[in-house]
Amino acid sequence: MRYLRAVTPTHSVSFFDAQFRRQAGDAALALNPFELLALPYLHGEVLDFGCGLGNLAFAAARQGCTVTALDASAAAIEHVRARAAREGAAVHGLRADLRAHTLDADYDAVASIGLLMFFDCPVARRVLAQLQAHVRPGGVAIVNVLVEGTTYLEMFDLSAHCLFGADELRARFAGWQIERCEAAEFAAPNDTHKRFCTIIARKPRS
Ligand SMILES: C[S@@+](CC[C@H](N)C(=O)[O-])C[C@H]1O[C@@H](n2cnc3c(N)ncnc32)[C@H](O)[C@@H]1O
Repeated sequence: MRYLRAVTPTHSVSFFDAQFRRQAGDAALALNPFELLALPYLHGEVLDFGCGLGNLAFAAARQGCTVTALDASAAAIEHVRARAAREGAAVHGLRADLRAHTLDADYDAVASIGLLMFFDCPVARRVLAQLQAHVRPGGVAIVNVLVEGTTYLEMFDLSAHCLFGADELRARFAGWQIERCEAAEFAAPNDTHKRFCTIIARKPRS
């Protein structure tokens, strides 16, 4: 199938693939808090980089966006493609290992919610730089990551993951107009917790 390429699953991708196979059947399709924060900033041509079940992508399409939705999970991309066909939505799902994916287009908005921490830090920072480079002038980047202090590690490849510094995203978007920069903390199983940072930044026009 053209859009379902061979992708070598990491522990993280297998973790989410199993979760998505359960959730896709249950229609667990509500936007999470980070997607709710992102949605008002999405317009025009949108890249959802690490789209999961594509809830944000479909919400963006409903408000007139054309969305490219990328993820390594076969369950996620099968779901995205089937839903796009069923609803006639402008959402194009593609399965890819995003640690090594080369973008060949620019976008009005790039969203990457809950993805980059699954890469080792040099890869995560390289991919973030690539995402920034593919935002059009005046467009927005929306990036959400786990940060230092997170103690819930079950979904990680322990040999390859990245907890960003608490203020790292803001520093990496120096020179951009910061629309939102938010910290959030959630309890996780076995008395652990997750600490997130979400940034929404607008690229200068010149
Ligand atoms: C926490 S989920 C976030 C999904 C969605 N953005 C959301 O907010 O619900 C992490 C996503 O990253 C994807 N992922 C992890 N490693 C990946 C990789 N190497 N390439 C592509 N996707 C990957 C998983 O399949 C999963 O969909």
